[in-house]
Amino acid sequence: MTQVLFKEQAWRFLNDLLQGQKAIILCDSNTKQCLEYFYAACPSAKQFPVIEMSAGELQKNLKTCEMVWYQLTEHGADRNTVLLNVGGGVVTDLGGFIASTYMRGIRFVHVPTSLLGMVDAAIGGKTGVDFGGLKNMVGLFARPEAVIVDSNFLKTLPSKQYRNGLAEVLKHAFISDPELLAMMEENEDELISRSIQVKMDVVERDEFESGERKKLNFGHTIGHAIESYFLDGEKDVLHGEAVAAGMIMESFLSNQIAGLSKEELASIVEVIDSVFSRIELSGDDWKAIKKLMLFDKKNSNGSVRFVLLKSIGHAVTDQAVTEHLLDEAFHFYTGS
Ligand SMILES: NC(=O)c1ccc[n+]([C@@H]2O[C@H](COP(=O)([O-])OP(=O)(O)OC[C@H]3O[C@@H](n4cnc5c(N)ncnc54)[C@H](O)[C@@H]3O)[C@@H](O)[C@H]2O)c1
Ligand SMILES: [Zn+2]
Repeated sequence: MTQVLFKEQAWRFLNDLLQGQKAIILCDSNTKQCLEYFYAACPSAKQFPVIEMSAGELQKNLKTCEMVWYQLTEHGADRNTVLLNVGGGVVTDLGGFIASTYMRGIRFVHVPTSLLGMVDAAIGGKTGVDFGGLKNMVGLFARPEAVIVDSNFLKTLPSKQYRNGLAEVLKHAFISDPELLAMMEENEDELISRSIQVKMDVVERDEFESGERKKLNFGHTIGHAIESYFLDGEKDVLHGEAVAAGMIMESFLSNQIAGLSKEELASIVEVIDSVFSRIELSGDDWKAIKKLMLFDKKNSNGSVRFVLLKSIGHAVTDQAVTEHLLDEAFHFYTGS
């Protein structure tokens, strides 16, 4: 498994790794402000060239890869160069892909700067870019040398982006570790490290997603469809917000067919509502969202399969749900 290191220990490791080493930093137009702290924590990184890409999911494509590959050659990067990916999930997904394909693969280190990056994107060895309008269509599994986790980066993260990451933390709590819920207001470092542990445990049991890893899709079957539906609309719905809505609806389904108690359903809804406001959805929106669900890549044979909760902390995969029940979940969410 990849080493995930925290704060002092992480910086010591990275400083040592970079001694007498060629490295190049990749960041985006927002996370370049993270470099000041990065250099203070890891002085040996100051000497390295920086490649900056524009921020945002729209940049997570092959064109950006070409730009970065080209700049790597310009900076004389060779097989011994280490790529340091300093940014959110876009930079780590794309940077990991670039490093693993440049000269048949050079080493890379993830330095996630968003909460979602720390607890989700930088963990688990998936790298890649979007292609042909589809997310993560081109990429590969590749392990970073290390993931450097330091919550100090979160000081500059916009609160909307912070909530985006919290949705994944909540998901980790619901599928595996309810004690995370108690830490939400208190110890951020512990919240982050425990949340990472949930993802690492799941990935360790199923690195290439044949079974167990599906649990990480809780809230995402409906969530992805909502996210895609609003992608080109005027409403700006972030991944985490869509997943939060998905988790409420899928918890309702869990209560109907997977054994989740009414009390647990109510407490899940309460926690989610304390962080996220509900997305306004009309009946027509819902029809379109249901259609999109059938296109979700994780569904085999055209039937929609869900990850549901038996109880808080215990997820079950491959649950078939009728369309009628799906509609009820929508009514439960919208209160209509
Ligand atoms: N590989 C995986 O297993 C995996 C898992 C989940 C998500 N992902 C991918 O991760 C991406 C989403 O990650 P994300 O939410 O971090 O998006 P992101 O990288 O786009 O970051 C969100 C925004 O916050 C900015 N930002 C990041 N850190 C900052 C900081 N410390 N201060 C100020 N601004 C900062 C970024 O520039 C960007 O504008 C998606 O592309 C998704 O597909 C991958
Ligand atoms: Zn997610």
